[in-house]
Amino acid sequence: MKEHLKHDLEQINHLLDIIKKQGVEYLKLIGARPTSVNHIPLWETQNLPESGYGTEETLKIFNQRFEPIMVGSSGPRYLGFVTGGTTPASVAGDWLTSIYDQNTQSTIGQGDISANIELETIHLILELLGLPDSFLGGFVTGATMSNFTCLGVARQWVGKEQGKDIAKEGISGLIKILTATPHSSSIKSLSLLGLGSNNIVKVKTAEGEREAICIRDLEDQMIKLNGEPFILISSGGTVNTVDFDDFMEIKKLKEQYNFWWHIDAAFGGFAACSETHSHLVKGWEYADSITVDCHKWLNVPYESAVFLIKEQYKILQVETFQNSNAPYLGDPLENFGYLNFLPENSRRLKALPAWFSLMAYGREGYKNIINQNISLANQFGQLLERSNDFKLLAPVRLNTVCFTLKDSEKQDEVGRFLETLNDTGKVFMTPTFYNGHSGIRAAFVNWMTGENDIQLIFETMNEVITQLK
Ligand SMILES: Cc1ncc(COP(=O)(O)O)c(C=O)c1O
Repeated sequence: MKEHLKHDLEQINHLLDIIKKQGVEYLKLIGARPTSVNHIPLWETQNLPESGYGTEETLKIFNQRFEPIMVGSSGPRYLGFVTGGTTPASVAGDWLTSIYDQNTQSTIGQGDISANIELETIHLILELLGLPDSFLGGFVTGATMSNFTCLGVARQWVGKEQGKDIAKEGISGLIKILTATPHSSSIKSLSLLGLGSNNIVKVKTAEGEREAICIRDLEDQMIKLNGEPFILISSGGTVNTVDFDDFMEIKKLKEQYNFWWHIDAAFGGFAACSETHSHLVKGWEYADSITVDCHKWLNVPYESAVFLIKEQYKILQVETFQNSNAPYLGDPLENFGYLNFLPENSRRLKALPAWFSLMAYGREGYKNIINQNISLANQFGQLLERSNDFKLLAPVRLNTVCFTLKDSEKQDEVGRFLETLNDTGKVFMTPTFYNGHSGIRAAFVNWMTGENDIQLIFETMNEVITQLK
């Protein structure tokens, strides 16, 4: 092992060169890389080698066993889930994150300065999204963890309103959560936080087959709570049909009722970058906390998301996340350190890929990516609407197209169609269920996707549907 380490260090230049070459080839040909593996081969799990192989030999093993079946998930025709691409600058930042391997914690005192880079990146994100600096933010692994972090502080806020310190005392009694169409990750967070996913008060959705919250019913539910503090989870883009709650109306309710307002804007928040769509998030700055994913529309590698929580709740945040039995860490309110403001203690410099990308492409660059994806989603939606075989399940509001087979008798075949389509390896989409229909979602969140991809996708869909007839 020692020999391998010594040799690897001596050969580091050569090793990084061959990795770079392989990475460049992958990125250059990513458009041609299959978007799925039809049948994941059965392989024998290998045992831990006694003295190891060294890096070059290990790369050969990786290339033999795994590389050929890696899918082009950051490529232009991967429209599954809400999977963002990776900009070249973000890849550069990501590589350097590993090279420098900082443990990102405090902004003052002895130690490294990576937390300052993180705070600066949060400032850049707030600027990009047109949000005020009154939000304190940080990086976590994804929108799930961001929802968890925000709802953790919301829980502490409700406790304080009820005269309890939940972080110290634990939960006693019910905390009501009002929401209409929450993402599954918020429900998961409620379970994790001991708030209980059953304690949701399901608010009606707005009329007209919408997923957005019905403001009238929301107010009715608030009245029923009779002054009891509660949490509202609202949607800044539902995952199925990208519907947005009316934030200006919620702002008005906030002036009258006592609640913590959380917005899950994992990808929809980027509507703020587009002149034609920024109205969708109008008023979101009045929320107490917001979730924004960076590995989606910011196009940085997994795992990257931010929580944005109003700085005025700093104390509640510290109460929730502080390492209270470690006096050597100092007073968290005086010595800012991320480890007292979010779930993880040790953490890599997650902000660096985002910092690189924001600095490299700026406001204009992101505006172009967002507008391009919106335009492509609309073009794709129009093709479907004009076709004899497909129909939209919801209007294209932003960047996602939710559709199904036109023939309502063929509902049972939606799954088979999608499986066959994904098996082509030319495009990847995800199944869904919406408004009583089996459906398909195609999410446009990749800077590389172009009009030629839309044509290729549509042609492939037509080939598959003809083949299945
Ligand atoms: C609205 C919304 N919230 C939360 C999530 C969860 O994101 P992540 O997978 O990054 O945890 C998603 C993922 O698609 C989402 O669309």
